[in-house]
Amino acid sequence: MADKRRFELFADLLLQRFPATRRVFDVAGGMGRLNEALVARGPSCLTFDRRHKHLPVEYAQRDFTLDEPCTADLVVGLHADGATRVIIEYSAKHQVPFAVVPCCSDNSMPYKPWMRHLADLAISLGLTVHELTLPMEGRARVLVGEPAPGRRLSS
Ligand SMILES: C[S@@+](CC[C@H](N)C(=O)[O-])C[C@H]1O[C@@H](n2cnc3c(N)ncnc32)[C@H](O)[C@@H]1O
Repeated sequence: MADKRRFELFADLLLQRFPATRRVFDVAGGMGRLNEALVARGPSCLTFDRRHKHLPVEYAQRDFTLDEPCTADLVVGLHADGATRVIIEYSAKHQVPFAVVPCCSDNSMPYKPWMRHLADLAISLGLTVHELTLPMEGRARVLVGEPAPGRRLSS
């Protein structure tokens, strides 16, 4: 059972790490609870997920792809399953930072190798990667990736 505090904890971590954030893409955001937690702290947020049932937040009811026009200055995924890899690829393509809390892999890989695989993917795409941890039980490791300073798009 995933920790129900994960939305608030991740929102706090994101805004500590990226305090100037104005708009977030919350990918595979499910009901939109991370969106609620982020908006309560200041930035605007657009959640992408295919679910019909969700909270009354800004919500794009579709899969997130690399072709999504980038109007965010941070792209994130909390237990985003099959979308986690896309978030990292999107970050590199559009030169915006990402933060993910990986859970299940998209290729049956166990958790630890999946974490390593995602970090290696980000590094191979030219991103600088850091790892943090949310103060909760369960899948709490956070991967943060940022474009090299000279390559980051100004907003
Ligand atoms: C384990 S749930 C997590 C939902 C939420 N982030 C949370 O922590 O409760 C994974 C979600 O990923 C969504 N998903 C998977 N691939 C996606 C994609 N390419 N674009 C958008 N959503 C996706 C599924 O619909 C599902 O709601």
